[in-house]
Amino acid sequence: MALHFSSACFSNFGRSTVPAVRAAASDQGGVAVKTAEEEKVKLGGSELKVTKLGIGAWSWGDTSYWNNFDWDDRKLKAAKNAFDTSIDCGLTFFDTAEVYGSRMSLGAISSETLLGRFIKERKERNPDVDVAVATKYAALPWRLGRKSVISALKDSLCRLELSSVDLYQLHWPGIWGNEGYIDGLADAVEQGLVKAVGVSNYSEKRLRDAYDQLKKRGIPLASNQVNYSLIYRLPEENGVKSACDELGITLIAYSPLAQGALTGKYTPNNTPSGPRGSIYTPKFMTKLQPLINRIKDIGEGYGKSPTQVVLNWLIAQENVVPIPGARNAEQAKEFAGAVGWKLSNEEVEELRSMASEIKPVIGFPVEKL
Ligand SMILES: NC(=O)c1ccc[n+]([C@@H]2O[C@H](COP(=O)([O-])OP(=O)(O)OC[C@H]3O[C@@H](n4cnc5c(N)ncnc54)[C@H](OP(=O)(O)O)[C@@H]3O)[C@@H](O)[C@H]2O)c1
Repeated sequence: MALHFSSACFSNFGRSTVPAVRAAASDQGGVAVKTAEEEKVKLGGSELKVTKLGIGAWSWGDTSYWNNFDWDDRKLKAAKNAFDTSIDCGLTFFDTAEVYGSRMSLGAISSETLLGRFIKERKERNPDVDVAVATKYAALPWRLGRKSVISALKDSLCRLELSSVDLYQLHWPGIWGNEGYIDGLADAVEQGLVKAVGVSNYSEKRLRDAYDQLKKRGIPLASNQVNYSLIYRLPEENGVKSACDELGITLIAYSPLAQGALTGKYTPNNTPSGPRGSIYTPKFMTKLQPLINRIKDIGEGYGKSPTQVVLNWLIAQENVVPIPGARNAEQAKEFAGAVGWKLSNEEVEELRSMASEIKPVIGFPVEKL
């Protein structure tokens, strides 16, 4: 990760090479458990190495979808604890975006600002900590051309108080102007503002076009971040997963817990609050129960929670880095136990087969742009 600025943006600093805090390897339920830090993977064809599981920071500062439309000191403290606990557990890859928590999305405080602050405070106590930051460019219809990408990236860097980010992604395909955006990503690499570049919510066709365009500039397309969970397997069906595998692009799985629906915490009588309640309805949660019960059974055999089982299921698909959202320390700690062990192939297939009985919820329409 690039170092923090003390005041002015865009001066050049060296790179920290000391690894993050290591958690000790352990044995759980007879399964040898490796730490997240030991399990780093390369992101696509780039040189960037990240933990096998990252942490999503959408909910930090957001008041349009999460947090019951309200942000306060208690939620801020919980988000900071989620960040610190992730680092303590060896999970050092964080995903944010310029829109998360921003005024543009009616948020209380930018998630980028919070993440930058958390990193800075952590580095004051623990200067050697190594964090990988991913953020995203919002392809808004009035933003055109490669220069708009660099300009938005510089604003993100200012909020993050960093001289560069590890991964810069196009948050969704634009209605127009996509070639300019891809050139903007390549410019960002050449200017040393980012280590690797990716896209998000890209269909197979768009993915192949972006890959070819970057290849002409000698830059690998590192990742495609898409909605992927045990109960939302569109990337397996629309060619995105197989294109990622074929081209050597890492699939970053967002909403890997189906926004909490797969954790076992929600039931037909206890559905999530806020906008999630209209997606994960009592009717939907009733249909989900047999699958949740089987996930619980399988998890018990490994001494693992349903959350850890469904994240492990995604990792078992290979070439997939899930980025579950952590709102507090307990959730972050639980994520760390999702890596370092493996479901059997039979269990992976049994869960897929059971999940295929459930009609998926409606996804983010930009996937079809
Ligand atoms: N590129 C895109 O278009 C896009 C779209 C969506 C998300 N994302 C990224 O993906 C990240 C993750 O997606 P997501 O936040 O939508 O969904 P998610 O990771 O599937 O679910 C996160 C939610 O599940 C609940 N949860 C987390 N851990 C839990 C645990 N151990 N036990 C019980 N409940 C737990 C929490 O909410 P409660 O505690 O309130 O239940 C948490 O906010 C985001 O933060 C963002 O970085 C990207």
